[in-house]
Order: sequence, then C-alpha cells, then structure tokens
Amino acid sequence: MVMTNPLSPRASYGDIKLYAPDSRVYPVDLSDNTNRWGAPPAALREFRSVGHEISSRYPSVYSEELKRALADFAGVDESMIVTGCGSDDILDLSFRAFGETGDVVAMIEPSFVMIPAFSRMNGLRCEPVPLTSTYDADAERIVALDARIVYLCSPNNPTGAPLSRAAIEFILERSRGLVIIDEAYVDFAIGNAVDLVSRFPNLLISRTLSKAFGLAGLRVGYGIGNPSIIAAVEKSRGPFKLTAIAERAAHAVFMEDLPWVREHVTLAIESRTLLTRELRKRSIDVPESATNFVFAPVANAGVVAARMGATGVAVRAYDGLPQFSPGLRASLGGALRISVGPAAEIAMALGALDEALS
Ligand SMILES: Cc1ncc(COP(=O)(O)O)c(C=O)c1O
Repeated sequence: MVMTNPLSPRASYGDIKLYAPDSRVYPVDLSDNTNRWGAPPAALREFRSVGHEISSRYPSVYSEELKRALADFAGVDESMIVTGCGSDDILDLSFRAFGETGDVVAMIEPSFVMIPAFSRMNGLRCEPVPLTSTYDADAERIVALDARIVYLCSPNNPTGAPLSRAAIEFILERSRGLVIIDEAYVDFAIGNAVDLVSRFPNLLISRTLSKAFGLAGLRVGYGIGNPSIIAAVEKSRGPFKLTAIAERAAHAVFMEDLPWVREHVTLAIESRTLLTRELRKRSIDVPESATNFVFAPVANAGVVAARMGATGVAVRAYDGLPQFSPGLRASLGGALRISVGPAAEIAMALGALDEALS
C-alpha cells in the first residue's frame, strides 16, 4: 500500500512545474544542443581509468586544479573562477547568493527555460523582457526594471543570435544588481564578455562544458567574475560539488584535447552554415546563429516537431513566443530550435521537416 504523505512543500513552491523534457530516445536527437560528434578522447580515457582511489575518496573541495585550468583557458586569475554541477548550478547558486525573497530577476525573452524556474525556486520574481526586432536585448526596458539580478544570454538560447556589445554595456553601466551573461554557447561565437569583468564588478559570466566540450553527462559548469562575486557564489556552492571523475576528465581535456574541441567547433559551424542556408531556401526567416543550433520560425511548431519526431528526428518546439521579429509575426510566435550535427543528420532533419510541412 502506498502511504499518502501529509507534508506539502512550501506554498510558493507547489505550483512550480517539474522540468520534464521529452526523454524518448530518437535515432537523431537534435533537441538539446549537446555535441553530436561525441566527447574528447582524453575524457573517455579518464573514465576508463577510474579506480577505487577515485571512487572511495571525496573529490577536491572546490575543484582547485580544474579551476587553474579554467582560469588559464579564460585568461583570468583563478580567484575569478567558480565551478558547479553544470552551468544550471552556477545560475541557481548565484540566484541563491544574490537574491533576497521577492527580488526581481529581469531576463530577456525568449531565453533559457530554467531561468523562470530558478527564480521562483529561490523566492524571486522573474520579469521577462522581449527581444527587439533585431534579436537584441531591449536594454532600456531591462534597466528600467532596476532588477536585483539581470539575466542575459549571449549568444542566446533559443534564438542563436548574440546580443550587441552596445546593449550589454548599456545594461552593465546602469545596473545596480548582479548582471549575469550566460555564455553556454560562446565557444561557437566570435568574441566573449570576459574583458568586461575587470570593468564591471557586478558581472558574472556562466559557461558550460556540456556543449562544445562534449561533456554534458559529466555536469561541469563554471562562472567567471570579480573575486568578491565568485566568493559569494562559492559559498552558495559549498564543498565537493563536482565528482572526482568529472574533475579529472575535464582537466584532461584542457591539458590535452583543446585541439579536439576546436576541430569540432569548426565542424559545427560548417553544419550551421549549411542548415541555415537550406532553411532560408525554404523561405524560413532564420536569424544568423552564433551557436551550435539554428532558430527557425514556423507556425504550429509543436505539431511540426511531433511529425518530425515520428520520423525519428527530435527537435525543440516553441509556440506562443512574443512576436518581436517579422519571422515570428509570420509564424504567429511558433519556432523550432534545431541543433547541428554531422552532415548526414542535417540531411535527415531537412527531410523530416519537408515531410512534416508537406
Ligand atoms: C543557455 C543555457 N544555459 C545553461 C544551460 C545549462 O547547461 P549545463 O547545466 O548542462 O551546463 C543550457 C543548457 O541547455 C543552456 O542552453
């Protein structure tokens, strides 16, 4: 007999929905922007070498060795780096460290789906501000909210487009709270915001090894910021947050396999160019992507994605998005987000799309 539990979670928590993406297995899964080419060989070698001295002992307290490698990679001091269990964790930790109950989180819309959930789980109020017609942040509206935390994502998920430097600097110059720039996809883009960290002590950049680095299953994310911001996030993180195997595998990639990462970023960019061109040939108004996915405004996206899924190709569907661009007005706010992969997978995705739209 299953006992009913009379204890409910706190009232404001009850109506937050569990994140429950489609977890069916598809032959071609282009729905989560992970690395379709696999993982770096040095990381795979480290998995195979795990012995009891790794599994029976605690990992390092705050990932000290990995932090040094990340600091070298990012070109900053190691006091400016914090690690977390995926960049999800970095975002959640920073909300916990900087948001007092009832504070406002201003975010660009559409953007990373977990932000409204992390806001509410931490007792914060999320205020979405639609992008402009050029897929940029509406900097004046964001600043006007005088938020405790501003969430920006560049290049942005799901639109793929980077935010302009002008909009980012406008927001940083006028914000009194924490400004987060989520750079989950920056490895596929030109430029990044690291140089702004020395000018703006309220800036936190979050990054991940789940995309270009092919290590989504290991859950490694990191933050870059002024040492005082980093210290606050690290306190929120607490000790032993990364597993020993994740630390070792990630460290090995920075020591040995950056060429692998760069080579596969180049392949992803080639596929992105191909996919963008093919979708535009089909009169789909695709914004230029700086990521490993492409944003394709199409009407009834949920139905289209389900039809593509039936032929074995998974993509992410959005319906009811704000209609801030001509493409989204034509699609009545519907869009697909299609990750890139090897050319054969792009061909299958286009075939599935043509069939779904016919
Ligand atoms: C914009 C953005 N930020 C953060 C994440 C979280 O990535 P992870 O927790 O795997 O590092 C994702 C994952 O899809 C993302 O798209």
